[in-house]
Amino acid sequence: MVTGSSGFIGSNFVLDWLRCSDEPIVGLDALTYAGNPENLASIQGDSRYTLVRGDISDTNLVADLLLRYAPRAIVNFAAESHVDRSIHGPEDFIQTNIVGTFRLLECTRAYWSGIHGDQKASFRFTHVSTDEVYGSLGPTDLPFSELRRYEPNSPYSASKAASDHLVRAYHHTYGLPILTTNCSNNYGAFQFPEKLIPLMIHNALAGKPLPVYGDGKNVRDWIYVCDHCDAIRRVLEAGRVGETYNIGGCSEMKNIEVVHALCDALDAARPRADGSSYRTLISFVRDRPGHDRRYAIDNSKIERELGWTPKESFATGLAKTVRWYLDNPAWVSHVTSGAYRQWVSTNYGTRPEVVR
Ligand code: NAD
Ligand code: DAU
Repeated sequence: MVTGSSGFIGSNFVLDWLRCSDEPIVGLDALTYAGNPENLASIQGDSRYTLVRGDISDTNLVADLLLRYAPRAIVNFAAESHVDRSIHGPEDFIQTNIVGTFRLLECTRAYWSGIHGDQKASFRFTHVSTDEVYGSLGPTDLPFSELRRYEPNSPYSASKAASDHLVRAYHHTYGLPILTTNCSNNYGAFQFPEKLIPLMIHNALAGKPLPVYGDGKNVRDWIYVCDHCDAIRRVLEAGRVGETYNIGGCSEMKNIEVVHALCDALDAARPRADGSSYRTLISFVRDRPGHDRRYAIDNSKIERELGWTPKESFATGLAKTVRWYLDNPAWVSHVTSGAYRQWVSTNYGTRPEVVR
């Protein structure tokens, strides 16, 4: 069972899974603004995938699905995932990321208590989390290892941290066979254009300003989404029960470097009519409140224990991503109609340009 299967990473996970396996998946997704069944249009009619529209907080529904489908594992992607939205309105983050994860855990515990033998021994609950729970690094600090203490700084990261703690507690107290992953910034196909990379591609192609927060020197580690999905499959397959695995792309970059790389890729693939570079659209705007300065991941545990390393470099992953957005204008125009415009006005309408 895959929760959040119609979102960005969840849908990539389902597609990758069915490319390498015939084992069926039941997806559970509330289809919020971020959930888009169109992401899985290429497997429509495939009997290996069933989508159930519903909320992970709906105890009756989840209990019923667990009895009906008797999954051998749950991979929990369902969440509110955008930091800026959590700043404008934290409530949904508390509800889904904390209460939702709690209810999902309760249903899973009841289901797991009622199964036996090999089925019980091999069952796994994999919780997909973020490196943001560790807070912000200084320029010379060591990258986040799994031993780093939790210091979440936004309502989003605080809600994910709370969910991680609940997952941990269900293992420690009830013995539920859990695995937790904490990953860095994903990019790739089907990412909603509220996040940095798809937002910049979308704005650039529309000739709109490219809004870089603050001085553009905040650092993130970037991982191509299929590498993240590959790591989760590996953790599910061979991770030690009760453990946490950090997952990173070995690509630490300043935001402004990411935006420059994107502009250069677009200049090559889709030159502007007047011959100017997309870089001329860059506009520095008021910073995100509480903006974490730097994230970086120490991959050594997952590499040592599970033999996993990312396959894509930032250059190869970005080239694939830019190509996907250029080739899928219909997907972009569907998700940027309607409510998306309201979000752009809420988040960027009140963010003045800052001259640097
Ligand atoms: P997303 O916002 O694109 O997708 C979230 C999905 O969850 C959507 O399909 C949405 O409809 C669904 N959902 C939301 N609330 C739900 C609920 N109450 N019940 C059922 N479904 C619900 O997010 P994403 O970027 O794909 O992230 C997936 C997971 O990975 C999240 O838990 C996120 O915290 C984590 N993560 C994301 C990144 C990243 O860079 N995007 C990095 C590390 C970890
Ligand atoms: O680190 C993992 C996290 O990465 C995930 O847990 C989150 O779900 C995911 O959204 C992402 O969080 P970030 O806040 O790092 O991602 P975002 O794409 O929103 O922003 C990336 C960086 O770019 C961040 O430093 C803020 C900056 N930014 C973002 C936007 C949307 C801008 O400068 N301008 C923008 O318009």
